[in-house]
Amino acid sequence: MSLILGAELGPKADPTTTTYVPRPEWYFFFLFELLRVIKPPELVFVATLGIPNIALALLVLLPFYDRSPERRPTRRPVAMTAMMLTIVAMTYLTLLGAFAGSPTQIDAEVEPQYQYGKEVAANSGCLGCHKFGENGNDGPGPNLTTIGQRLPKQAIQRTLDNPTPPMPSFKNMPPDQKEALVEYLGQLR
Ligand code: HEC
Repeated sequence: MSLILGAELGPKADPTTTTYVPRPEWYFFFLFELLRVIKPPELVFVATLGIPNIALALLVLLPFYDRSPERRPTRRPVAMTAMMLTIVAMTYLTLLGAFAGSPTQIDAEVEPQYQYGKEVAANSGCLGCHKFGENGNDGPGPNLTTIGQRLPKQAIQRTLDNPTPPMPSFKNMPPDQKEALVEYLGQLR
């Protein structure tokens, strides 16, 4: 089919893009989701190497540990239950992965005058370290869902210009964008 129809390559890679949304192919969504569900950094190797390889080893070794001559599904409760659980878990994780929000989008509604600031926040990489409502990552930065309650606008502005590492400085962000961003953050309560 590739010879006849050509292989789909997608658009040419653009190293300057800031809005690219990295997503795996759909048949990897369950692994991608497993990695998202397992949060602590010490456990990442369990999701990336541990679980997939254990599952693969169990499958490869199946003929050695399952020596029962029985072939009728109703007489093989352990094998059938294991298969059902695997299918249900993979389907569930695939669906979660398919409907996971984009890493460059904040879903919580705001009043129209703050819409631009919200887009700036969504497209500036804040979601990589902060959570806004349902979107973003829970750490290393604090949750910003109600940041306007904790910090006045001037303090937010100061944080953006002179943050404590590992947060990068946004001193060089264009002034109109930064103003909109600060206005947006200041009204999050
Ligand atoms: C590389 C990760 C990272 C990124 C990207 C990042 N931050 Fe942060 N941010 C942090 C960390 C870590 C802290 C806590 C710093 C501290 O302890 O003082 C923080 C603190 C803050 C605070 C102060 C919160 C408080 O409760 O005192 C604000 C406001 C903030 N960030 C806004 C933003 C915004 C807006 C963006 C995007 C334009 C952004 N951050 C991008 C990591 C990050």
